[in-house]
Amino acid sequence: MLDGKVKNSRFPVNYHITPLEGLLNDPNGLCFYQGFYHVYYQLNPKGTDHKNKCWGHVKSKDLVHWVREPIALAPSEWYDKDGIYSGSAIVVGELLYVFYTGNVIQADDSRKSYQCVAVSKDGQTFEKLGPVIEEIVGYTRHVRDPKVWYDELEKCYYMVLGAQKNDEVGTILLYSSVDLFNWESQGELLANNEIKKIAQRGYMWECPDLFTLDNEQLLIYSPQGIEQKEHQFANLYQTILLRLAKNNEKYTIKNEKMIELDWGFEFYAPQTFEAPDGRRILFGWAGVMPERDETVAPTIAEGWIHHLTIPRELSFKEGKLLQKPVTELKQLRTTTRQYTLEKQWQETSLKNELELLVLFEETAIDFELRIKETTRLSYNAEKKQFCLQRLNWATGKKEKRLTYLDRPVQKIHAYLDGSSLELFINQGESVATARFFEEGPMSITYVGGNSGKAEVYELK
Ligand code: FRU
Repeated sequence: MLDGKVKNSRFPVNYHITPLEGLLNDPNGLCFYQGFYHVYYQLNPKGTDHKNKCWGHVKSKDLVHWVREPIALAPSEWYDKDGIYSGSAIVVGELLYVFYTGNVIQADDSRKSYQCVAVSKDGQTFEKLGPVIEEIVGYTRHVRDPKVWYDELEKCYYMVLGAQKNDEVGTILLYSSVDLFNWESQGELLANNEIKKIAQRGYMWECPDLFTLDNEQLLIYSPQGIEQKEHQFANLYQTILLRLAKNNEKYTIKNEKMIELDWGFEFYAPQTFEAPDGRRILFGWAGVMPERDETVAPTIAEGWIHHLTIPRELSFKEGKLLQKPVTELKQLRTTTRQYTLEKQWQETSLKNELELLVLFEETAIDFELRIKETTRLSYNAEKKQFCLQRLNWATGKKEKRLTYLDRPVQKIHAYLDGSSLELFINQGESVATARFFEEGPMSITYVGGNSGKAEVYELK
């Protein structure tokens, strides 16, 4: 829940992080500092296009109740005059350091990128300390999104950067530092012959994030230029998970399959951080969409667009990344209703903010869940296939995304927030995020015959 909502929105999004006005994109600078979770995010406060990027800011004691803070970083210096692009945060003693990419458009319209640092004593006001990495030979101007962490064993800081090589393929650069100011290049995180193991490379890799989780080295990155292959990589841009191993200072790729983090329509540029209790928490941008759709999205007329996902707790078990809504979100629950799965039911006139739990007692047979009239989640038991269908708001036509589970569905956990849907299947091993713009009261319809139950919680 955010203090301050977009007034009279036709498509309100209430408990997710949204801008009050303007355009939101990537989560940035995720951290826990001075007793608060801080979420910064890419924000154009002046319009709903991708210009004037600043770092918007909200903070919370519990990952549920968020307070809006003034813009934390805005363009002001020669090295960031055309945008404070994405980056990360690191707490060192009493201080909060943030690393971001300064975007500069030169007189001849060409661009430059600078990796910059700023420091804060309160998470709110930042002193800009300038670039720590400038132009890098061998790469185009597309070098950005510094993610910084401290390596306890090696007693030094590391940074990964999303990059494009001069021959227009995507990659990740690795840097190390002992003092956060002097950064030494460690070359590319993954050598070319490693990257060849994966099916597609793409022309640019954005927002890399490298961390250890349950003894696995995981890399999440958001590549551009990946072609659709059957049901996979169906969106404009993707977010991919790779399992890495480190041998003799070199990273290798363990899995050759590019694992999509989310099979829905809108998910991109996530970032993770470690909570004080050791949980690895992820926020993503529920928004990347083709320009054609973005510029006519129904909230544009209201002067705002996009939101972040709910916070998701990550774990890695039996070779799989699991994403689950953080348990703190249970605080949002108010009323509960229960249904059986034996026969069709429909609940109309529900609140816009809902949590839905569907639990199957035996191997599920085909069923469908409808949200309002036009958004439908259907399950094909024989193929262990889920299909999410909605109406595209630009064309009015039906469109769908598909996934195949590794094992039959046992549980569906969904969060609905007006025009936003996040689906977590089984133990969070299959996740989908989507927007759907249909007016009228919220309703849920179940069509099927299964043994099990559903619970619907209305949320604050
Ligand atoms: C990803 C991204 C980042 C960049 C930011 C600019 O969505 O393109 O690579 O830093 O958005 O807003």
